[in-house]
Amino acid sequence: MYQFENITGNKDEIYTELYKQIKSVVEAETDTIANMANVASMLHETFRFWWTGFYRVADEQQLILGPFQGPLACTRIKKGRGVCGTAWLQNKTIVVPDVELFPGHIACSSESKSEIVVPLHDQQGLVKAVLDIDSEKLNTFDDTDQLWLEKIAELL
Ligand code: SME
Repeated sequence: MYQFENITGNKDEIYTELYKQIKSVVEAETDTIANMANVASMLHETFRFWWTGFYRVADEQQLILGPFQGPLACTRIKKGRGVCGTAWLQNKTIVVPDVELFPGHIACSSESKSEIVVPLHDQQGLVKAVLDIDSEKLNTFDDTDQLWLEKIAELL
């Protein structure tokens, strides 16, 4: 099993070590759902986020809930709606320091205070899913999170 407790250091150092572990896990398996499940777990266990998971593109109009760790979440999100739907529509990472200030934010839980959503791409560069991480604290996510989570997204 993975010894998450043994990873120590600042955020960049933690991501550096975690990235190596995620890479080896993902490279050993071809099934994307299985890999998303393990990536959600590894990120969630390491950083103790409030909610860590994936929404997959179901069709041209909506995302559907994928593997996640944390409390119950909404199952379908329309393109352009909320942070997830906006990250999909704009095909870019969105960092939200305070969800109350993001117009249209979808509150699956009132505990969620800040959020980051990172798109995952298929071979053609189209968005196939998003990685959504929620924190129960304000201002949790910064450039370091964005950089490493985008690198992790590229592995999937
Ligand atoms: N807050 C997200 C919805 C998903 S949940 O937080 C798990 C959004 O605005 O897209």
